[in-house]
Amino acid sequence: MSGGRGLGSRYFCTASRGLEQLLGEEVHRKLAASQVEQVSGKVFFTADADVKTLKSLKCAERLFLLVKKLPPIQMPRHKGKAVHVLQKCVIGESGKWLDVVAKWQTLQEFSKRQRCTSDITGTGIKRPLQQEDSGTWKRPKLELDEPLTTTLDEIPTGQYHLHAVIEGSCQSKVPMQTPPSPDELPNSKSQDAASCIDFRVSCRCSGRIAKVFTSQELGRAIGVALGRQMGWKAELRNPMLEVYVHLSDIHCVVGIPIVRLPLASRDYIKSAGLRSTVAWAMAYLADIKAGSLVLDPMCGLGTILLEAAKEWPNAYYHGIDNTASQLQVASANVCFAKLTNSIDLTRASVTELPLLAESIDVVICDIPFGKKFKISQDTKTIMPNILKEMVRVLSVNGTLVLLLSQELSLDIQHWQKTKSHQTNKGKLDDAQQNADTTPVEPSTHPAEKVDMENMSAAENEQAEVKREVLASLVPTGIFQVSLGVTEASIHRYKKISIT
Ligand SMILES: C[S@@+](CC[C@H](N)C(=O)[O-])C[C@H]1O[C@@H](n2cnc3c(N)ncnc32)[C@H](O)[C@@H]1O
Repeated sequence: MSGGRGLGSRYFCTASRGLEQLLGEEVHRKLAASQVEQVSGKVFFTADADVKTLKSLKCAERLFLLVKKLPPIQMPRHKGKAVHVLQKCVIGESGKWLDVVAKWQTLQEFSKRQRCTSDITGTGIKRPLQQEDSGTWKRPKLELDEPLTTTLDEIPTGQYHLHAVIEGSCQSKVPMQTPPSPDELPNSKSQDAASCIDFRVSCRCSGRIAKVFTSQELGRAIGVALGRQMGWKAELRNPMLEVYVHLSDIHCVVGIPIVRLPLASRDYIKSAGLRSTVAWAMAYLADIKAGSLVLDPMCGLGTILLEAAKEWPNAYYHGIDNTASQLQVASANVCFAKLTNSIDLTRASVTELPLLAESIDVVICDIPFGKKFKISQDTKTIMPNILKEMVRVLSVNGTLVLLLSQELSLDIQHWQKTKSHQTNKGKLDDAQQNADTTPVEPSTHPAEKVDMENMSAAENEQAEVKREVLASLVPTGIFQVSLGVTEASIHRYKKISIT
């Protein structure tokens, strides 16, 4: 946790496991955030930024205004009593909710919207034309099957008049069952605004609490209590306000999303491939400089190139793939993102790249694994040749960033160990000849005990390629990341010598 002035609002983002540190760096860099705290799957921070700047975070899955963060809640054994304790802890004071909702309203750029609406009624509510005559205005609902390409602040005028409703003088659609006491509500304006809110609670339980309650059960119980306390109406299909609750063994976190869609759902990507946050993280780790030539030699739908070119527009990007259908979709993606000037695509094989030696500054690649992307030979067998070709086209001091399955990651780390053992063995032989007594740990890995003479010609050739590749690459970091159902590793290398 870094110190800070504590100005601005308190937020948190959810992130794929493994990306918390990079997200922490991103909030520092882009938002000048203070009090940054990273925990598994989340980053908390304080920032004074507008929605546009907040939405520029690329490593985050979702972004929330923090309502509260508590240590894990101690529950009584009795289930009924436990519900009561949880409701009380999660909801707490009404004033806190009103404060956070007021901040949330500000972030939705209310004043800007009011300026933009020319045909506003006396109450500040713009009526859709077809309903004006009847005088009974109703907020049209967004259908759930409508493609969710809009966020609350982007929904076209006439469809969703959230700010007008809240700022106007409308009354609660449901009478409050337990009216809050006046001292619980700081001012009547925010009380009016708050009483017009409809909401839903999205609850996630994990750890011990999930053994007692289902997420739905608790979501419902918290929703009922919150609605009663605040005079808000439950609306499950299309609520104005979403309340996110995560109860785990680490903490109890409550927040309100700033934008309806996850930040990770990029509006510039038409067909999604690799998880956008992971693609962005790979590009970030590659340290792309202005004027750099960046290659993804197994680009698929082009997600890594799109993420990189959006964030680092002053570089040149080249995508290669051997599958025509993948390249077709990649090309449509590049056009959709308006990046035809910076991204080129070519059909070729990663093992025979149509590029000059040392012509590329950065190679970034999501090596296929799993059922979806099988390469003709076993990836493990072909990997030395793939790497050899990538290293050939990479310039000295260039960066190589790879996304690997856990199995491949361990395999490559093992090559490295074997190499250092062999180097050490060489050192030991020299040392023994020179009567130097420096102790070198003998290897215990069975593969290292392989008798070189018993290796087949193919194995020998592979071993030679591995040696050649490793001689020119220095590992500069390994980062574990979660891809949802699977775990993967990002490996980063620097090329130090000509192959
Ligand atoms: C894991 S996918 C890449 C996904 C990509 N990162 C995305 O976001 O869409 C691997 C890609 O490697 C391509 N591929 C498989 N064998 C190849 C080869 N020998 N040369 C070039 N590309 C290859 C596949 O066609 C596939 O598009």
